[in-house]
Amino acid sequence: MCSEMKKDRIIPAHIAIIMDGNGRWAKRRGLPRTAGHKKGAEVVEQILEDADHLGVRYLTVYAFSTENWSRPAMEVKALMSLLRRYMESSLVKCEKNNVAVRVIGDKTKLDKDLQASIRVLEEATKDNTGIHFQIAINYGGRDEILRGVRNLAKRIESGETKADDITEEMIAAHLDTAGIPDPDLLIRTCKEQRISNFLLWECAYTEFYYTDVAWPDFDKAELERAIDAYNQRDRRYGGLDSGEQ
Ligand code: IPE
Ligand code: IPE
Ligand code: MG
Repeated sequence: MCSEMKKDRIIPAHIAIIMDGNGRWAKRRGLPRTAGHKKGAEVVEQILEDADHLGVRYLTVYAFSTENWSRPAMEVKALMSLLRRYMESSLVKCEKNNVAVRVIGDKTKLDKDLQASIRVLEEATKDNTGIHFQIAINYGGRDEILRGVRNLAKRIESGETKADDITEEMIAAHLDTAGIPDPDLLIRTCKEQRISNFLLWECAYTEFYYTDVAWPDFDKAELERAIDAYNQRDRRYGGLDSGEQ
């Protein structure tokens, strides 16, 4: 694509990514699955910078699902160690790049020390005005809706709200993603074409993009390819094309 066209393209305000294929990437190289996760973790940091430079305002990545606990204990431990390392080591870089970090998902099931390091990073970066970086850990779309519904039900129990007064906005305000605009573009790497319980409420009108590239091989050129594909989409939201009657 020529640079002129590149200038004209719309950059999605919010990109969500299902970072898949770390295990397959490692297996292809005769390496343990954990080596794929390690490389994958490096790629996230680079893509965060690339997305920021391209003008993306919100980046949300799926790091660990509510279903991923069913993996072998050693793999879960390795994934948690990578997340712990990220929380503990990225503060300086986030400050330098003005990144605001937020973890979505049920944090109460994580190790206490990981919860503490998440709190420190979130608190330290919450007023940063650059890219908003959401990391989904122990996240499941259904679990998020369930927790939100429980909190809403408590308001009804206490008499604060009436059931008939519940609105879509109130439900959205009770999700982990409260205050964050819905994703414009969802990217899933490594061939699979499914949502795997990610951002179920939020993706009502999100454009989906799938690539065969495994997450550890994903780079800025791939990100731009996804953005270019997004620019070919016609977002109708149930209506008609602009210009049609
Ligand atoms: C994505 O890669 C990372 C997580 C789900 C934590 P996978 O570990 O799912 O890699 P594949 O799909 O087995 O190749
Ligand atoms: C989705 O990938 C979860 C993350 C990327 C964290 P999975 O590899 O767990 O999803 P399935 O099992 O292929 O649906
Ligand atoms: Mg997978």
